[in-house]
Amino acid sequence: MSIILGINAYHGDSSACLVKDGALVAAAEEERFRRIKHWAGFPSEAIRYCLAEAGIGLVDVRHVAINQDGKANLWKKIGFTLAKRPDLGLVMDRIKNKRERTNVRDELARTSVAPFAGEVHEVEHHLAHLSSAFHVSPFDEAVVVSVDGFGDFASAAWGIGRGAEIAIDDKVYFPHSLGIFYQALTQWLGFPHYGDEYKVMGLAPYGQPKFMTEMRRIVQLQGDGSFKLSLGYFRHHKEKVEYEWENGEPKVGELFSDALVELLGPMRRTNEELTQRHKDVARSVQAMYEEAFFHLLNVLHVRHGNDKLCLAGGCAMNSVANGKVYQNTPFKKAYIQAAAGDAGGAIGAAYAVWHKLGGSRKFVMDHAYWGPHFSDAELLALLDTNATNLLEQRCSVTRIEDESVLCARTATAISEGKVVGWFQDRMEWGPRALGNRSILGDPRRADMKDILNLKIKRRESFRPFAPSILREAVSEWFEQDDDVPFMMQVYPIREEKRALIPAVTHVDGSGRLQTVTADTNPRYHRLISSFSRKTGVPIVLNTSFNENEPVVCKPEEALDCFLRTKMDVLVMGDWFIERKG
Ligand SMILES: [Fe+2]
Repeated sequence: MSIILGINAYHGDSSACLVKDGALVAAAEEERFRRIKHWAGFPSEAIRYCLAEAGIGLVDVRHVAINQDGKANLWKKIGFTLAKRPDLGLVMDRIKNKRERTNVRDELARTSVAPFAGEVHEVEHHLAHLSSAFHVSPFDEAVVVSVDGFGDFASAAWGIGRGAEIAIDDKVYFPHSLGIFYQALTQWLGFPHYGDEYKVMGLAPYGQPKFMTEMRRIVQLQGDGSFKLSLGYFRHHKEKVEYEWENGEPKVGELFSDALVELLGPMRRTNEELTQRHKDVARSVQAMYEEAFFHLLNVLHVRHGNDKLCLAGGCAMNSVANGKVYQNTPFKKAYIQAAAGDAGGAIGAAYAVWHKLGGSRKFVMDHAYWGPHFSDAELLALLDTNATNLLEQRCSVTRIEDESVLCARTATAISEGKVVGWFQDRMEWGPRALGNRSILGDPRRADMKDILNLKIKRRESFRPFAPSILREAVSEWFEQDDDVPFMMQVYPIREEKRALIPAVTHVDGSGRLQTVTADTNPRYHRLISSFSRKTGVPIVLNTSFNENEPVVCKPEEALDCFLRTKMDVLVMGDWFIERKG
C-alpha cells in the first residue's frame, strides 16, 4: 500500500491531501479549520483531518510531498541577484523561505502524534501546479499551463503532459509575472486583501477597455508566447515588499511604484467611491490579462497541435478568461481542477511523487467533495445542545428521511424567495461552494442579490451571484455546452433566457456556472430537479455558506451562521430547520 501526504505549506491557502494507491482519499484547506481566510503556514489541522479520514496515523505514511523546492531554478536566483543587486532584505526573505521549508520534518513531528520517519519530496512549485491539473484530468495527453504569482522564483510554466509524464517547455522567471501584474493593479484599484483579484474580475464588465495603451506599456508580449513586465511600474524586484506568510491571513505590501501612479493617476482608497474611470481600468486590466493569456495559449496550440488543455496556478482562477478559451483559441476541451491555485499544489505534489515512484494513471477528479463529513448522530447532538436557542428564535426543526420530500420542501422554500442554508455530506475542496456548503436562492427574483446582501453577505453590490444548473440543461440556457463541475468558467447566458434568471445574470449577460450531475452529487441534482419541476427553471442561485469568514466546515459553524444572520431555512443532512415569522 502506498500512501502519500501532499501539502501546500508556506504559501497562501495552505492545504493537505492524502493519496492512497494513486487515488485521492481526502483534501482540505487549512483555512476551514483555523477559520482565517487564505491561512498561510503549516497545514497541521488539514493533515490531521486527512489522516483521520483515511483511518491511519503519520506512522503509516511513507512519503510526504511539498509543492516547493528551494534547489529549483537556483541558477536563475543567483544570476538575478548578481545582475540586479536588489535590496538585501529581498534576498534574505527568499533564503528564509527555504529555511522554513527544510523544517517540514520538524513541523510534522511537532504537530502530529508521531515523528515522521519516511521521505520528504520537494516538488518544484510549477510542476506541482501542472500535475495538480493534468494528473487528475481525464486526458491522456494535453497542453499544460501554469500561470501564477510566484513560486520557486518562477511565475509561469508550460509544456505537454503525456500519460504519467509532464515535459516542461519553458518558464517565466522572477520578476516577470502576470499574477503580480493583476495583483498590483488590484491594489491600485483599492482592493488590498490577498485574493481580492476576483473583485476586479467582477467589476470589469461595468467598464470599457479604455486604457489598453497604458496596459500594453506595463505588459509586453513576446514572440515565443511569453510576456515581460515593464519593471519601472513595480517595486517587487528591487525593494522588499512586505509579505506575511506565517500562521495567519497572508498580507502583501504595495507592489506598484510611483511610475504607475504617474501613468494611471492616484490609487483608489479602499472606501472611496468607484468611478467610471476605475471601472474602465478594471476592464482594461482584465482585457490585458486575457490578451497575454490567449497569446500564450495560441502559441502553445501551434507548437503541440493538441486540442486539450489543463490549466493551473493562481491566474487559472480567472473564470472569465477561462470561459473565453474556446472562443479565442483552437483548444476544444479544458480541465481546471477545483483548487487551481496554491491549495491545489498539495495534490500536484502528491501526484508528481506518485508517478515518480512508478504509479500509473487511474484517478480522475470529477467532483470536489473531499472534505470532512458529519454523521446524523452528530447533527442530532448539536441540535439538542442548541434546543433553547432554536426555540428562542422561533425555529421549527423537522427530520425528513425521504429525500424526495426533503428536496421538494427545500425547492418550495427557495421558490418562495427564502434564503436557504444547504449543508450536506463532505465539504468541498477548493474555494467554491458546490452544493454541500452552500446558501441557495431563487435565480428568478431580480431582488435576490439585494436580499442576500441584506440578510447575510453584505458584499459589494457589483459582484454577481452564481448559478448551479443541471448538466443536461446547460445548452438550453448557456451559449456553451460544457462540463463546468468546479465553477471555473464563465459563459454567456442565452439572450432569451437572461430576463428569466436576473439574480445570476451578470451585467454583461454572463454566468459563472456550476454544472451538476446525478453521478457526482445526487442530492443536489435532485433538489435542482425538484425546483425545475416547480418553476420550469433548472437552476438555483448558489453562494458559499459563510458570512465574511472561510466557508463553514462543521455543522456548528453552519448553525451559528444561520442563527446570527437572517437566513430563513437551514437544511443540514436530513434536518429541515425553519425560522417562523
Ligand atoms: Fe502558485
